[in-house]
Amino acid sequence: MKIILIGFMGTGKTTVGKLLAANLGYDFLDTDDLIEAREGKTVSQIFATDGEAYFRKLEHKLARELSKADSLVIASGGGFALNRENMEVLRSNGLVVSLNASPEVIYQRVKHESHRPLLAVKNPLPQIEKLLSYRAKYYQEADLMVDTSRKEPGDIVKEILGELAGRGVFNGRNRN
Ligand code: S3P
Repeated sequence: MKIILIGFMGTGKTTVGKLLAANLGYDFLDTDDLIEAREGKTVSQIFATDGEAYFRKLEHKLARELSKADSLVIASGGGFALNRENMEVLRSNGLVVSLNASPEVIYQRVKHESHRPLLAVKNPLPQIEKLLSYRAKYYQEADLMVDTSRKEPGDIVKEILGELAGRGVFNGRNRN
């Protein structure tokens, strides 16, 4: 069993994913971190030197590699779920959880960060709104959707575990 967190930049996938993995006794993997380590470049550098299409290919390669992984929480990059094949290969023994937040909340969370090439524009809020309205349909394909606006990571994890237990996926701290 694995859990794949999808959702827009700044919705808390990495923070929540680490905590969720610790709670379940699962391993944790962040797709951006692994791609950066393998390429020896930051995501911004990959976008700048190799282009976004190359980055998306790396994401897809990773999705295929992870299809057989087990006992794993994956925090995916914000564009990962836009490739339906990525989601298909991961869904086989995985559960997809979408983290959401309003454009304003996302803006407040990301405005002092500079590592996201798609938000490296003069005025990020309209860019966030535009990308989010196009991407919403992809994020909505998740098995479970959780709004992370104005919530603490620990409470979000509790909410996810409660939902999953309610659906018979996990019973309390069941690690299988
Ligand atoms: C992207 C989100 C980023 C990273 C890249 C592209 C996107 O990940 O993969 O900058 O297309 O939304 P985070 O969602 O972890 O910031």
